[in-house]
Order: sequence, then structure tokens, then C-alpha cells
Amino acid sequence: MSMYAAMKSKPLKGRAAIPGDKSISHRALMFGALSIGETRISGLLEAADVLGTARVVGMLGAGVARDGADWVVTGRGIGGLTAPEGPLDFGNAGTGARLMMGIVAGHPIRAVFTGDASLCRRPMGRVLKPLRQMGLGVAEGDKDTLPLTLIGTDELVPMRYVLPVPSAQVKSAVLIAGLAAAGETTVVEAEATRDHTEKMLTYLGAEITVTPEGEGRAITLKGQPVLRGRPIRVPGDPSSAAFLAAAAVIVPGSEIVIENVLINPTRTGFYTTLKEMGADIAFENEREQGGEAVADIRVRHGALRGVTVPPERAPSMIDEYPVLAALSAYAEGETVMQGLAELKVKESDRLAATEAGLRANGVDVTAVGDTLTVRGTGRVAGGGLVVTDMDHRIAMAFLTLGLGADSPVTVDDTAMIETSFPNFISLMTGLGARFEERSGAVS
Ligand code: S3P
Repeated sequence: MSMYAAMKSKPLKGRAAIPGDKSISHRALMFGALSIGETRISGLLEAADVLGTARVVGMLGAGVARDGADWVVTGRGIGGLTAPEGPLDFGNAGTGARLMMGIVAGHPIRAVFTGDASLCRRPMGRVLKPLRQMGLGVAEGDKDTLPLTLIGTDELVPMRYVLPVPSAQVKSAVLIAGLAAAGETTVVEAEATRDHTEKMLTYLGAEITVTPEGEGRAITLKGQPVLRGRPIRVPGDPSSAAFLAAAAVIVPGSEIVIENVLINPTRTGFYTTLKEMGADIAFENEREQGGEAVADIRVRHGALRGVTVPPERAPSMIDEYPVLAALSAYAEGETVMQGLAELKVKESDRLAATEAGLRANGVDVTAVGDTLTVRGTGRVAGGGLVVTDMDHRIAMAFLTLGLGADSPVTVDDTAMIETSFPNFISLMTGLGARFEERSGAVS
């Protein structure tokens, strides 16, 4: 356990380069393994979740090596991966586990999937259901949680799947399995979720078409393409940048620039919401990098007003609700966040954890059904202890909350920050944030 307190800070100033995007990093390693030849990755996120995927990809027979600041994956081609010798341990990473299920499904191999206590309580049925329809075998029958033994096949059948929940992980697992199937696999989503799988597979040589369907879209992938390794540059993670942006918005007198951040519209709901709240935030130097849009984000402190965040925006900011809820406490008026059912099945029940953490720090908050309401007064009392429950984003959201609070906000365990943003504390400290390590047992 590493307990930290966040304290009221002087203005945050300066420029910061944040680590690579987690979603793109997982995909670069996995799709590199399914390509022929070398995929050189620059800017890979070197955090526990992604390093876990690198290890698993190696266990399945691909070459994975660090080369200077880059990572190089030597792929085996679709269908060319081999049976692992031991269990595949994904640690805390839902993306690692779920996307890899799509890969293993299309290989005639058996693999045990496992993870930490948080991952082992998360629902896997949402991915297993369509993959079983395509031909994946599961030794444990209809069990929905890890550990599981999966039995892949080289005879997957393509399918058309309408997503019952807006989930990029489920969409990706089905499309990835579709790579190995003969024929066309289609996934229909009612709301656009992050599209890095579609973009990166297209870049590596897959044929993917996207057509509007109802309010949403249908994504069709032609099976059994030849993917060829190509260089991939991973932009900065907008979900990690959100903590810095929130801190600058919260702490009076702050002005920071966050460099080289991914601004793919399927990921920027948080920034749209901040603008609606009246925050002084600008995308500068917008450019394209490796098929993705990036920008430097300038954020200045300013007064905020409460807003209603509509449910259809949830997929584009799903990981940012804890930190949005934290900064909403510093706004004047009510912020209503709707359509948050998916938050309950993240690394922790983030809806409950966010509500409990805010309440412990004197914030007026209620969670009813899948709506979270924060009644902001522009001030946060602080002084509370936050239970992170193995959730990196809960830890970081509440350390951010504490930077403007009257009394320190203490987070019981910051160890999980390692899964997505290892230099969070040092980077924030470099901008002027004040944290103190606390010792002592948590009761
Ligand atoms: C991710 C998709 C999201 C997100 C997760 C990463 C991805 O999960 O919460 O952090 O890389 O595809 P869901 O697709 O399950 O909502």
C-alpha cells in the first residue's frame, strides 16, 4: 500500500509530455504480432497493463523487443501464433484480456486467461458470447469471469454482431476474431466507440468499410487479409491528459500546455464537456500523426459552471467520469452525468467509488440509477480518505481533487497508478502539484 495525500497547491505552470495512449499501445503490440514482418512502435506506453500485453504476445510466439526508445514486434501473421507454455496473466488490464480473446479464438491453441483480483471480477461474457458463436471453445462452460481456459480454432466462422453495450473492447474482439474467419464479419454499434482497431488494422492492410446504420454505424471487415508490419507512432493519452487538464482548471492561477495529445473525436468528450462548463481550454498546433489527430492542449484556470452531460457522450469519455465528477465540485451549480451504467464494470465500480470518495471529502453528490449528480459550490472541504479498490483512475481523480481542497485529500493506495500512468506523481509535481506520502495502516 502506498498512501498519498494531495494538498492545496500553488498555480500549476509549464509544459508536460504525457505517456502514450493505452488503447493504441495494446493494439500496436497485438496487431504487430498478427502482421508479417516488423512493426516498430515509438511512444509505446510503458505501464504495467501494456507491458503485460507485450509479455503475452511474446508467450504466443511473436518477437517483442525494446530497441532504444522504440519497441519492435516481429509478427507471425494471422493464424501463425503458437500455444503458450503457461497461463496468460493480464494483470489489471481489461483491454489486454478481451482483445487477446479475439486473437486466441482464431488460432488452434489452448490458453489459460487470468488476471488480478479486479480483472477476475469483471464480466467476460460480453466478449465470450459472440466469440463462441464464431467457434471459440471455453473449457469452463458458461462461466463469465477469469480465470478461463479458451480453445481457439482455425475454422472460425464470420458473423454479424449487434453490440448490446457500447464497448470498443467487445467490438474489437469480434473484429479481431474476424481477421481469421473466411468471409465478412460485421459489428453494428448504436453509438460510436473508440475506433483505433478499425484505423490501425486498415493501416496494416485490412479491408474495413464503415457505413451508417440507424443512429450508429456498421463496421465490416473482410476476413483473412495479409497484414504487413509498419511503423506506428503512439500519441499521448487523452485519458491521462485529463488529470492534468482538470488540475489546471481547479488550481487558481494555473496555465499549462499538455503536448502531443490524441484528439480522435471518439476520445474527446471530456474536453467538449470542459468547454461547455466554461473552462479556458484550447487545442493548439493540431496535426496528423500516424493516421490519428493530435494537438497540444493549453489549459488555464477559470470559473466553471455545472452542466448536463448527455448519455450519448459517454462512450467518448467513459474513462474520464471520475475526474470530471471531481472537478464538477469546483463548479458553481449542478453537474448531471447521465448514462453511466458501464462505469459499474470498470476496474472498480467507478460510480460507487466516485460517489463515496466525493462524499468523504464534503462534496454534495448522489448516484441514482446510472446518473451521477454533483452539486458544486466552487469549494471542496477535503479531509477525507478515498478507497481506490484497485482502480488507477479513482486514485488519480482524487489526488487531482485534493489540489484545490481546503484540507488534504488522502488516497489509500496509489500502487495501481502504475498500470496506466507510472510517472503521474512526478509529472504533476513538476508542474507544481503538492503530494505527500503518508505512512500508517488503513483501517
Ligand atoms: C478501451 C475501451 C473502453 C475503455 C478502456 C479501453 C479500449 O472500455 O474503458 O479503458 O481500448 O478499447 P469498453 O470498450 O469496455 O467500454
